[in-house]
Amino acid sequence: MNRAKPVLFTPGPLEVPRRVSEYMADPPANYHRQDAFRTMFAENQQDLKDLIGIRSPADWHVTMFASTGTGANDVCLLALSRLGRGLIVSNGYFGERLVTQATECGVEHDVLRLAVEEPMDPGAVDEALAADPDLKWVFFVSHETRAGLVNPLVELGRTCKRHGLMVAADCVSSAYAYAIDLEAAQVDLASASSSKAIMAHPGLGMVFTRVAAVERLRVAGTPRGSSLDLVAEFDKQSKLREPRFGQPVALHAALRAACMHLKTIGIDAHHRRIRRQMQDLAAHLGDLGAPARVDPRYRSWVVCNFDLPPGFTCAEISKYMEGQGLFILYGIGGDKNHFQIATMGDLSDENLSALKRAFTRLFTARRRMSSDLARPAAVASSSR
Ligand SMILES: Cc1ncc(COP(=O)(O)O)c(C=O)c1O
Repeated sequence: MNRAKPVLFTPGPLEVPRRVSEYMADPPANYHRQDAFRTMFAENQQDLKDLIGIRSPADWHVTMFASTGTGANDVCLLALSRLGRGLIVSNGYFGERLVTQATECGVEHDVLRLAVEEPMDPGAVDEALAADPDLKWVFFVSHETRAGLVNPLVELGRTCKRHGLMVAADCVSSAYAYAIDLEAAQVDLASASSSKAIMAHPGLGMVFTRVAAVERLRVAGTPRGSSLDLVAEFDKQSKLREPRFGQPVALHAALRAACMHLKTIGIDAHHRRIRRQMQDLAAHLGDLGAPARVDPRYRSWVVCNFDLPPGFTCAEISKYMEGQGLFILYGIGGDKNHFQIATMGDLSDENLSALKRAFTRLFTARRRMSSDLARPAAVASSSR
């Protein structure tokens, strides 16, 4: 069996540090009700809060679910629904995903749709909230991964709070990828995933839960979500440092190793490396005729979409890159005119150089061939 795998330039699941896979294969506990698990759980709590920049850790609990980022968003929606009707603000693919999830979970909501490929305008959110004083909560996406677009988390959160609402933010792809300030944003719930920039394996959905918000949710309505019930899970985990139901211990161990890795290299260095590699790649691809999409002022520099150079197809690039051991995403969302690259995984500069060299070979070979073909035959033969 061929076990060689391409290097992932994807926005999660992604390349993980070697230690993460080692911990997953040989976790320090093998049951979720052992003391060794509780120790690991408590250490992860501390590091997850510290690495994301929380300054008052006692005010927060990272409630863990055996799910992915989508599941963490279901958890938030079901918890918010205890309060009554809320507003989902959408300016792209993952905002629309929240709307779909709310509809499918039977969560009463309105939708405010704002321009895509532009950051959400807090003024527009302010107006919508002022016009409907019966709203109880707001949910929006912090980083629109599909576009690689940063929304103004702090301004949006504060705007919603001025209206006295509970605020949730989908931070699945911004958490640990670039600096975010959950406390300044005054959010109550923020979803994240083990498979994104924290660089662990997929399978744990996390909800940064403001302790004070739990009491409001508890008294506001009846439990929702059963195994996805935020309040019940918070109660058990924050008191006993173990989940209500069986969770994959090996994934908690992978997360432990990911936290240790980020503490060793430093979270600021991690953010800087992700950004530097993407800026370098975008400049390189721009020179090769594959410009990056989205106004550079709004780009996250974590995930970026690139136009195909004229004459190339996604299928052809994909075949060539996989042959080179390099995996990127092509034509996502049905738009066959682009490919997407992320640098949020554990990628070395050598990985990036290999990707750049492959693009250079692919995109310039075609150009050389077509300019040879365009040259008059006599000139072409005289050069032989
Ligand atoms: C902003 C955002 N929200 C939610 C999700 C869903 O997360 P998962 O694929 O882990 O379920 C993603 C995945 O890329 C995302 O980028």
